Amino acid sequence: MMAERPALVVRNLEVSFLTVDGEVQAVRDVSFEVGRGEIVGLVGESGSGKSATALAIMGLLPVVSSRVRGSAMVSGVDMLALSPRQLARVRGRDMGMIFQEPMSALDPLFRIGDQIAETVRAHQRVSRRAAAARAVEILGEVGIPDAASRSRAYPHQLSGGMRQRVMIAMALVSEPAVLIADEPTTALDVTVQAQILGLLRRLSRDHGTAVVLITHDLGVVAETCSRIHVMYSGEIVEACGVDEALLAPEHPYTSALIQCIPRAGRHRQPLHSIPRRRGSSPDVRPSGCRFLPRCAHAAEICKAPQPLLDLGDRAVRCVRHDQLALPGAVERVPQ
Ligand SMILES: Nc1ncnc2c1ncn2[C@@H]1O[C@H](COP(=O)(O)OP(=O)(O)O)[C@@H](O)[C@H]1O
Ligand code: SF4
Ligand SMILES: [Mg+2]
Repeated sequence: MMAERPALVVRNLEVSFLTVDGEVQAVRDVSFEVGRGEIVGLVGESGSGKSATALAIMGLLPVVSSRVRGSAMVSGVDMLALSPRQLARVRGRDMGMIFQEPMSALDPLFRIGDQIAETVRAHQRVSRRAAAARAVEILGEVGIPDAASRSRAYPHQLSGGMRQRVMIAMALVSEPAVLIADEPTTALDVTVQAQILGLLRRLSRDHGTAVVLITHDLGVVAETCSRIHVMYSGEIVEACGVDEALLAPEHPYTSALIQCIPRAGRHRQPLHSIPRRRGSSPDVRPSGCRFLPRCAHAAEICKAPQPLLDLGDRAVRCVRHDQLALPGAVERVPQ
């Protein structure tokens, strides 16, 4: 039997921005794939190129000030090769995206039910009445209580958690093959965060949606994803199963991120507690390993460019990975 084709296949993605100081590379050589019904995490601190990756795949980067190379196949079609017009048709139908701040995607002047119904009618030939009914149905599915009357609410009348549910409903109403969620729970408190992550898991499982979950928080990944890609300074530095990453990280940056996961009886360590040597900034990229200025294990050999090493079931961008015994999580973070 032929193996099922992954819903999303990203290959050699490169993104750069044209700024007054010249071309700035934000994403380099990023490749990953996501299967039907799978949730894959893209993790890294602020500025590591996660959003640029997502926006490039969605075709949402400004055409004049950015440059994108590589391919992003969704159901066999390369999103990066489409014209803006073709992309507009595909976006929302074949792939959806949700953001940290739902208000950026919702129109404050329109009732949420009408906004969802409009999305339905943009991609399907259905009557107004059928679209409105579909809006109420999906609002119920994402856990909005009393969906029929809530569908008449305006965005500002809902809590942050409810607004995030509305955005998920809007992204999923056309049953896209791929959903990209960029820090979807960062603005929410932990209880609501857990509910939203549970909702994403259930929707992905029930509808077979391939989800890319972008976060700076490895705890979120531990709760939600099967596989993980750790990004640092625009590059993937480690790619593997979530359990492997948490219990036995091979890259010093992954290990450092794990030490930032909050645990019972311990306060969350801020990400910046990973040491950054004076004068080093993520924008100043060393020609060798990009993590070198912050790495506790750096050696002379690290000054050479670091390829992503294929170790079979995982990949790591560190020449010293097999000489290091890096600490992981003490125990599996509970699901
Ligand atoms: N519109 C832009 N113009 C210039 N540089 C940008 C732009 N957007 C992002 N960048 C730069 O690209 C890099 C990656 O940014 P981003 O993808 O937003 O990171 P993340 O989402 O991981 O926090 C950063 O160095 C950021 O400063
Ligand atoms: S290549 Fe060297 S500097 Fe880079 S992460 Fe590995 S040990 Fe650290
Ligand atoms: Mg971002």
